[in-house]
Amino acid sequence: MSNLKFFSGEKIPLEMHKVRMVQKINLLPVEKRLECMTGAGFNTFLLRNTQIFLDMLTDSGVNAMSENQYAAMLQADDSYAGSETYFRLEKVLQDIFGMKHFLPAHQGRACEHIIMQTLVKPGTVAIMNYHFTTTKAHISLMGGIVEELISDEGLKIQSDNLFKGDMDIDKLNAAIKRIGKDKICFVRIEAGTNLVGGQPVSMDNLREVSRICRKEGIKLIYDASLLTDNLYFIKIRDPEYKDTEIKAITREIASLADIVYFSSRKLGAARGGGILTSNDDLFIKMREMVPLYEGFLTYGGMSVREMEAMAVGLQESMDMDVISQTPIFVEALCKELMAKGIPVVTPPGGLGCHVDATEFCSHIPQVQYRAGALASAVFIAGGIRGMERGTMSEQRNEDGSERLAEMELVRLAFPKRVFTLSQVKYTADRISWLYKNRNLIGGLEFVEEPKVLRFFFGRLKPVNNWPELLVQQFRRDFGDSL
Ligand code: F0G
Repeated sequence: MSNLKFFSGEKIPLEMHKVRMVQKINLLPVEKRLECMTGAGFNTFLLRNTQIFLDMLTDSGVNAMSENQYAAMLQADDSYAGSETYFRLEKVLQDIFGMKHFLPAHQGRACEHIIMQTLVKPGTVAIMNYHFTTTKAHISLMGGIVEELISDEGLKIQSDNLFKGDMDIDKLNAAIKRIGKDKICFVRIEAGTNLVGGQPVSMDNLREVSRICRKEGIKLIYDASLLTDNLYFIKIRDPEYKDTEIKAITREIASLADIVYFSSRKLGAARGGGILTSNDDLFIKMREMVPLYEGFLTYGGMSVREMEAMAVGLQESMDMDVISQTPIFVEALCKELMAKGIPVVTPPGGLGCHVDATEFCSHIPQVQYRAGALASAVFIAGGIRGMERGTMSEQRNEDGSERLAEMELVRLAFPKRVFTLSQVKYTADRISWLYKNRNLIGGLEFVEEPKVLRFFFGRLKPVNNWPELLVQQFRRDFGDSL
């Protein structure tokens, strides 16, 4: 955000945009909210939009677009092959990232599919700061093994480390020695590390990881889906980059990696995805798969309208006023919650506010999905849809036993430029009520459990009648309020 101080001294996240198109949202009564949650199998993914007041599930594909993005959609050039839209987007990407080749794909996981098909051989190890669900699923599908080497600090809920997404360099050196560089299919660094609470990776760390990879001849892949949050934090938390242009930081990041890929449902506030590389060999290998799985090379499964919106959105992402909006709102909600003693991941990261379900619901056994239970309770309490990021989001071990997550979080995501400060305050209010009544929240168990990415479609039920008791308490405390 621009340097702007309030006379009161308060730190208020000020919107550097105005709202010119709105969507009406509804807040159903608490009894109805419980009915909806029951219908959705206590899985927030299965709720319907009309049942939700504040949708904080994700920032994916639901960011507010600018007037210029909408305007650009009208000039889209529809053609199966050779669309001008593709060339416009390619030029923008080459300019921003300074990389030679661009391959379009319909979203982030489609890029992962193509990259993993190209680089992962059965039994090889993919080293990363931390996994993302879809990334890990694609690596596993190819018979690869994921090894996460995030710094110990990254897994601490509360910390004052400013770059908790950093990879542990000693662990990386040791892993290369232990596994052998020939059995490592690649090293992957994820910007704005999603599953540990949207935590950034420092430039120093990326530079060192890149140096080691180049020395050993190991490919470095950079997942730029959450790049803008990471750029913001580099700019404000690393004094070395205080005066560096956002685009120059982006270029430097890209120069350190062999492949950069992204979900444009996040980066560039559109819908789609892309892979960038300057390596001709890799480009040719990956290119073969685009027409096979995505579509012809000049659209890659995307609508040309979205590609135009992406090109403009990417350029707008090089503006600090634009990219600061999510992190300053995340910080505002984290601070409101912390002031009420509610445990959240600190320092506040990008993407969303992450509530620590391990402490919030310490009375619920981890195998009863305490973060999933808390996400259900947050919806019942306020019509607010968050996302479970814990054991429910893990895949079972081969022997069928639960793989317990290292962190049990409920993510309250901030789609870019969507919510206002009063909505932040409402969210903090309902969660603080829930915190006072946390002993009423109980566990969940699966009724239907898919084998892959079970958190998307799985259905659960409460272990007893705790949701009814929660609703009764709500009525006692709030009277006839929604
Ligand atoms: N990488 C990261 C870091 C992501 O956060 C995501 C998606 C992907 C890859 C996959 O991209 O959805 O376009 O296929 N994250 C979404 C989320 C789903 O809600 O955090 P995609």
